[in-house]
Amino acid sequence: MKYFIANWKANKNADDALAWSDDFLKLTEKSEKVKNLLERKLIKVIICPPLTLIYPLKERIKRITNICLGCQNFSLYEKGAYTGENPVQSLVGIAEYAIIGHSERRLKFGEDQETVNKKIDLAQKYGIEPIVCISCKKEWDSLKKPVKLVAFEPLEAIGSGNNMPVKKVIDFRQNLKINDGTEFIYGGSVNEKNIPQYALSDRINGFLVGGASLDPLSFFNIIKES
Ligand code: PGA
Repeated sequence: MKYFIANWKANKNADDALAWSDDFLKLTEKSEKVKNLLERKLIKVIICPPLTLIYPLKERIKRITNICLGCQNFSLYEKGAYTGENPVQSLVGIAEYAIIGHSERRLKFGEDQETVNKKIDLAQKYGIEPIVCISCKKEWDSLKKPVKLVAFEPLEAIGSGNNMPVKKVIDFRQNLKINDGTEFIYGGSVNEKNIPQYALSDRINGFLVGGASLDPLSFFNIIKES
């Protein structure tokens, strides 16, 4: 199975999100190829919008198999008197996946490895699959538990247009010595033009797409071209 993960970051309001989903679903339903891959569960699409947009999207996307929702973050606190926090339990039944350890959280919000490990525990406790982002081997080595999805996102490739060449991505994967139970995702300036080079490799099990996921056609083309 190949994963296509849309990370909208802090973009879009409810109207934008619903318009995006209408356009994306129409494109998908019109494409025999993509529809077929989804129905046969050969690909999975995970849309990760800002938290408040998850619920309205849930209703829209349910008509197509293997398209689901993820969150970009959740609270480090499990429950209780933490005004303003979004606990992971509030996502149960809505989000199936959670991006954890994105470099923007690490660098702009001071999330350290202990936080990342704690969030992995919380997500797994509530049945939400972590998508753990790493930008270097040290972050991989600091994970306390096996995870099913790891997303390698080199810092210099994120949002820069400088996607890492496929050979370097595969070398990085090799160096991690990941086991068969872990899917290896690449993220960093993936777009519809550079996707074919990655898609040819069976060492890369999916893509985490930021900027190019904001436009439904670009995101759809990434899936179609791969
Ligand atoms: P990008 O972002 O595709 O815009 O580089 C990827 C990410 O930060 O997840």
